[in-house]
Amino acid sequence: MRKLVLAISALAFGSSIAMADPIEEREALMKANGAAMGGLSAFVKGEKSYDAAEVLALLTKLNEDAVKLSSPELWPAGSNTGDSEASPKIWEDPAGFQAALEKFKLDTAAAVGAAPDDVDSLKAQVGVIGQNCASCHQAFRVKKG
Ligand code: HEC
Repeated sequence: MRKLVLAISALAFGSSIAMADPIEEREALMKANGAAMGGLSAFVKGEKSYDAAEVLALLTKLNEDAVKLSSPELWPAGSNTGDSEASPKIWEDPAGFQAALEKFKLDTAAAVGAAPDDVDSLKAQVGVIGQNCASCHQAFRVKKG
């Protein structure tokens, strides 16, 4: 189903920028955030031996997805329906939500710029980035089920 949705949005892209399903799009990006953080924490925990190139690729992916997530088209008013865990606060406090997205973009960009080359410096970056996930989820996400 996701593949079909992506194919349709790819087709639609030529004529309009409308997203096929903003909820699915942003959830897929959030899942990718989770995967990238998981990949980074394997290095932090020493489960994998340090690979600066792979770390940089994961940080770059987080930053690219932070940029994509900042698109207002992914957050149309009232799109907290179905299985979405988006909180109505996103639309009650748009400036606060925008600021959280902006900080996420800046902190991931700074981590890419820092290009951490050992576990200690990566640990610091992951700590800063992880705070973005936690504080935005606390303010703007409601856990369902
Ligand atoms: C600016 C706010 C914000 C930031 C920053 C943020 N998230 Fe989220 N996240 C949300 C919201 C809102 C949802 C619920 C979206 C929905 O279901 O419509 C969500 C949902 C999720 C989900 C569930 C996706 C699903 O399958 O339904 C995961 C996993 C997730 N976020 C991981 C992360 C991680 C990891 C980070 C940090 C690297 C992060 N998020 C940063 C706001 C944020």
